[in-house]
Amino acid sequence: MNERREKISREISERTGITEELIERLVRRFYDRVRADAVLGPVFAERITDWEPHLQQMFAFWSSVALKTGRYHGRPMQKHAPLPVSSDHIDRWLDLFEETARELCCEAAADHFVEQARNIAQSLEMGIAQFQGVMLAPGERLTAVDNPGSRAPAWFACRNLSSTILAQKAMP
Ligand code: HEM
Repeated sequence: MNERREKISREISERTGITEELIERLVRRFYDRVRADAVLGPVFAERITDWEPHLQQMFAFWSSVALKTGRYHGRPMQKHAPLPVSSDHIDRWLDLFEETARELCCEAAADHFVEQARNIAQSLEMGIAQFQGVMLAPGERLTAVDNPGSRAPAWFACRNLSSTILAQKAMP
């Protein structure tokens, strides 16, 4: 890490109490909950079998996001855009994350983590919507469409565009 970056990380750490050790505890506890969760668990179970590399990646990610260390070099949007999720999944993710942060961290640290998580979740939701062919208006959420007859894993649309999306996603 260069000197300027180190200074910024140190300042954030002193202000919030966030350390690499705290990040590791938060991430481990959070993903324990995610894996056990009825809404999120199956989405992860289908994609992650070896959890340790994912957890290591998430330590680097949160270190970059919360402490500005620049340790993470991935592309989260590319990984999330094709996921079969809607605003329900995003909200559940945020609830579990906030619950875990409030349990393990002091108020300043929890506020810092949660604020960043909300901002990133919002941009991921827009990216996921776009991938599904939906342009979300400001404040609009990505809703799931019930289509029990479909063989596709999930059908999505936002309220006013549902017919367009259903036409785009029509199965043979
Ligand atoms: C609906 C909620 C979410 C679900 C279901 C979800 C699911 C996943 C899955 C399955 C992966 C592994 C992808 C792969 O390796 O193929 C992943 C990776 C990741 N997720 Fe999420 N995620 C969600 C929300 C978030 C949010 C809100 C954040 C950030 C605040 C986030 C940050 C990341 C990062 C950084 C990675 C690693 C990407 C990489 O490999 O570089 N996720 N997520």
